[in-house]
Amino acid sequence: MSIANVAVIGAGTMGQGIAQLFAQHGYTTWIHDVRDGAAEQARQRIAQALDKRVTKGRMTTEDAATALSRVNVANSLGDLAEADLVVEAVVEDLDVKRALFAELEGLCRADTLLCTNTSSLSVTEIAAELHTPQRFAGLHFFNPATAMKLVEVVSTDATTHNTRRALHDFARTLGKTPVDVSDSPGFIVNRCARPFYSEALWLLEHGTTSAATIDVCLKSGGGFPLGPFELIDLVGLDISLRATETVWRAFDHHPRFRPSPLVADKVATGQLGRKSGAGFYHYGDDHDEELS
Ligand code: NAI
Repeated sequence: MSIANVAVIGAGTMGQGIAQLFAQHGYTTWIHDVRDGAAEQARQRIAQALDKRVTKGRMTTEDAATALSRVNVANSLGDLAEADLVVEAVVEDLDVKRALFAELEGLCRADTLLCTNTSSLSVTEIAAELHTPQRFAGLHFFNPATAMKLVEVVSTDATTHNTRRALHDFARTLGKTPVDVSDSPGFIVNRCARPFYSEALWLLEHGTTSAATIDVCLKSGGGFPLGPFELIDLVGLDISLRATETVWRAFDHHPRFRPSPLVADKVATGQLGRKSGAGFYHYGDDHDEELS
């Protein structure tokens, strides 16, 4: 099938980045959020991000203006009826996602590809009540969506070969590297990333050293582009905690995947990372200040 109109539901960290990515690659893009003004705000942030690309010489002013002109705010789900592909990037909550897809199934065409960007929920469970699960899959982008090359295409037993192939082809048009993943806890990247975070969190819990020192060590000595605490702050502590809990539950509460109380405490006090202005670091205008 040919894909021209795409919809992104959820205008938070991921939805905004995914919408920008789609628009930059020529797709007519609709963005919708339940929060009043959130989709419009995401469009403004996309405008700022495109301006930055122009300033850095990565894009011409004309291309940035054209990309922005492709981003449309959808005030209701009904505006998305003509979408060829929908990517859901709403809050990481099974019931919310299920309810959303049940509604979309009634609104969209029968051949619209329905995708979730969940980072840790079971794609099979999200699709469990769909009448047409064959056109449903995980399309898992990484943060920041405009920069990270990988996309996990997560299939359930019901996802057809054609759906998978269409999603691979689509991801390639975005300059991404798609990989096939069968639905399993944490998929591949988030599963392998859990020990990376938890080992660093254990070190911090035991007072061995500071978050900033661990980040410096893993960047300078381990060759990682970001340290674990910088990465948790970028992903969002709430999102990271949910992913850890999902994998931990899936492995019968194996201590290797135990969620850290440090993260849970910060989430409870609203320190969610970059998006809230503080997490393991403080986010001022120009510099990061360590908190922990
Ligand atoms: P976020 O908290 O920044 O944004 C979620 C947005 O969804 C909010 O703007 C909220 O108002 C909106 N929303 C909630 N319920 C809605 C509904 N029923 N309809 C429309 N909008 C609704 O979350 P974030 O970080 O963007 O994550 C979104 C999804 O992407 C989650 O499933 C998460 O697991 C996944 N993800 C997150 C990554 C990250 O690094 N933050 C990376 C990859 C996937």
